[in-house]
Amino acid sequence: MLVYLNGEWLPDERARISVFDRGFTFGDGVYEVIPVYASRPFRVERHVARLKRSLGGTRIDTGYTDRQWFDLLDNLGQHLPMGEGSIYLQVTRGVSLRQHTFPARTPPTVFAYARPAIATANRDLAQGIAAALLADIRWARCDIKTTSLIANVLLTQEAADRGASEALLVRDNQVREGAASNVFAVRHGRLYTAPADHLILSGITRELVLELARQHAVDVIEESPTVEDVCTADEVLITSSGRGMLAVTTIDGAPVGDGRPGALFRLLYEALQTFKDAVRRGEVR
Ligand SMILES: Cc1ncc(COP(=O)(O)O)c(C=O)c1O
Repeated sequence: MLVYLNGEWLPDERARISVFDRGFTFGDGVYEVIPVYASRPFRVERHVARLKRSLGGTRIDTGYTDRQWFDLLDNLGQHLPMGEGSIYLQVTRGVSLRQHTFPARTPPTVFAYARPAIATANRDLAQGIAAALLADIRWARCDIKTTSLIANVLLTQEAADRGASEALLVRDNQVREGAASNVFAVRHGRLYTAPADHLILSGITRELVLELARQHAVDVIEESPTVEDVCTADEVLITSSGRGMLAVTTIDGAPVGDGRPGALFRLLYEALQTFKDAVRRGEVR
């Protein structure tokens, strides 16, 4: 696989970074995952805007212009053999002997590659997925998409150990988001989701789903549902770049609603697919 590393394109087995890269020693970096449809990076302006917010929030200065980011992402999209998949892009604070303070005059490490799509299991789409409620043990800047994902990794593994494929994260009795997704509860036809503050990563898929819901005259309420709201919801949905949209049909083993993906899931899932097809045709970005 061809990867991009600090301005060079090279086969992955020849790409090398130092053991002193702060991404390796501290998890001192940020990243993006950008879906690609028909070789076109999805909502690329929004992904680049979020990347720049993450870089700003961590005070990493790459010197890259918007044009350079767009060209890099377009180029990666072209590298996908079937044109469908996703781009992983990571920027770390670069290489320095271990010290917590920022090193002076050290260039950031910029690394990216594109990988083919992994199809969502038909079973997950048709039956929905199992989720587990877990205490949100992450830091208080979840709006920064940092590579320091140890809490998310532990939470996802804990969910998996309980037979669930996503952790629903609870702070102050409110369900904020998933370990790798945003979470929505449907109650009496209204769509509830946590506000885009510092306690969630505002997903690019989340933003689009909220737009699509409003276009379909669905009431959207950006307030965190409580644990009770989620457990007694008619439907629960998750969204992410990797998984698109899925219905959560059991929480801690108990069924959500009638235990099957519901009507609002089907409506929004179809709307999302229609949008992706328009991206494929180059009609929207
Ligand atoms: C914690 C968290 N929240 C939300 C999301 C969804 O964001 P997006 O739709 O931009 O992929 C992700 C994606 O990985 C995530 O890790």
